[in-house]
Amino acid sequence: MSAEAKKHKAAARAVEMVRAGMVLGLGTGSTAAHFVAALGPLVREGLSIQAIPTSEETRKQAINEGIELIEPDEGTIIDLAVDGTDEVDGRLDLIKGGGGALLREKIIAESALRMVVIADDSKKVAQLGAFPLPIEIDRFCWPLTVAHIREVCDAHGLKNIDLSLRNSESGAFRSDGGNYIIDVCCGRIPDAGALHQALLAIPGVIETGLFVNIAQRIILGTDDGVEIIERSV
Ligand code: A5P
Repeated sequence: MSAEAKKHKAAARAVEMVRAGMVLGLGTGSTAAHFVAALGPLVREGLSIQAIPTSEETRKQAINEGIELIEPDEGTIIDLAVDGTDEVDGRLDLIKGGGGALLREKIIAESALRMVVIADDSKKVAQLGAFPLPIEIDRFCWPLTVAHIREVCDAHGLKNIDLSLRNSESGAFRSDGGNYIIDVCCGRIPDAGALHQALLAIPGVIETGLFVNIAQRIILGTDDGVEIIERSV
């Protein structure tokens, strides 16, 4: 079965969690796009929901699907955030940001009452780190920030690793917030929480793609159906 078919299965199962009146966080990427696409017909049939997109790409898709988008205020409660991932380990920790939306994704995921991750089963790993870790940084004197990132990685046992400024067809990639992304080829990340905290302490680092202790449920599309993994409390 294709990865796209598995993503679709995971998204369809997540849609079953949506109830009328909910405020949803809409993730970014090809799997999240399946979720938004599956929501559209339900909305057009009368399901009343509101949503906050985590990227301009998702904003456009949601508008096309007729989904009502809102700007939150301090009292807004996001009932459910649904997003994809680049890797997920057995602790339900994630590497995200392959699509460059990690900052907005984390703001929404951390604010939601519940974050559910949808993916095809290839995203499940024994240890995080094979997928290059995206780190969103301010553009000011960015090579100095990269030097600090290298030092922190070195101190966490990640020696001589490759770090690269993400590029796009028109030059350096910019996130929706206008920031740069550094992709760090860690290989393996033994302690995601410690690495995340150390990276976040660097001036210039805005956010990392390590989502530690955030996701409550993982829905993986498989050949046979879906595998659901819940965070144990
Ligand atoms: C976007 O920045 C990412 O965090 C995506 O959620 C992640 O890259 C997964 O994307 P796919 O669903 O396209 O694999």
